[in-house]
Amino acid sequence: MIMKCVAIIPAAGIGTRFGGTMPKQFSEYESIPILIHTLKLFERINEVSSVIIAITPSWEEYTNEMIVFHGLKKVYKIIAGGKERQDSVSNALDTLEPNEYDIVIIHDAVRPFVSPELVRKIILTANEFGAVIPALKPKETIKQIDENGMVQKTLDRSVLCVVQTPQGFKTEIIISAYKKAIKENYHATDDAALAEYAGYPVKVIDGEETNIKITTQFDIQF
Ligand code: C5P
Repeated sequence: MIMKCVAIIPAAGIGTRFGGTMPKQFSEYESIPILIHTLKLFERINEVSSVIIAITPSWEEYTNEMIVFHGLKKVYKIIAGGKERQDSVSNALDTLEPNEYDIVIIHDAVRPFVSPELVRKIILTANEFGAVIPALKPKETIKQIDENGMVQKTLDRSVLCVVQTPQGFKTEIIISAYKKAIKENYHATDDAALAEYAGYPVKVIDGEETNIKITTQFDIQF
């Protein structure tokens, strides 16, 4: 069976940790906005048939211009983002027709260095397990602290992982997970957390050291 996969790219953040005058996904690296680097990557991955971007409406015109200028063919919807990342993804999911796609992958606009191999592996594993995330083992010791900056306890890092995107899901799983989260006002910082909350098992595969999330000026220089 041939799977149909759509990629949702939340790109509606305002990037306050980054500084500067524009959201971090529009900062340039090698004279190309980071968002465009990310979109170009998906153009090269045959397993992804279409891309939906969630954007702040005031950036839509510029984004469209960039898409035309760089000859990107897969972006078929640009939709308005929401207050939090979760709201942006939810708006994108709301635009899907029933049975339009078998697999949905969700990838941060600000992770332009993910490899096509990892994206393909996420799609295949999502088809097998229903929900999948890439993650790395933490290299540093992680401690739980309180609001006064005092250590409460040292966590066992052998059972912890640092989670990345793309995260992949069978379409019906991520749609039902988002529906439940909205109904019950549940908020989380990644998509898999909503699937977990809805009771779905989530498979973890190896992430990539190079798949960094550009958050600060240091990241882009790095
Ligand atoms: O803010 P954070 O680094 O977690 O953002 C991760 C991704 O989610 C970024 O690509 C950002 O543009 C996007 N985002 C969004 N809508 C928001 C907040 C963040 O699409 N309201």
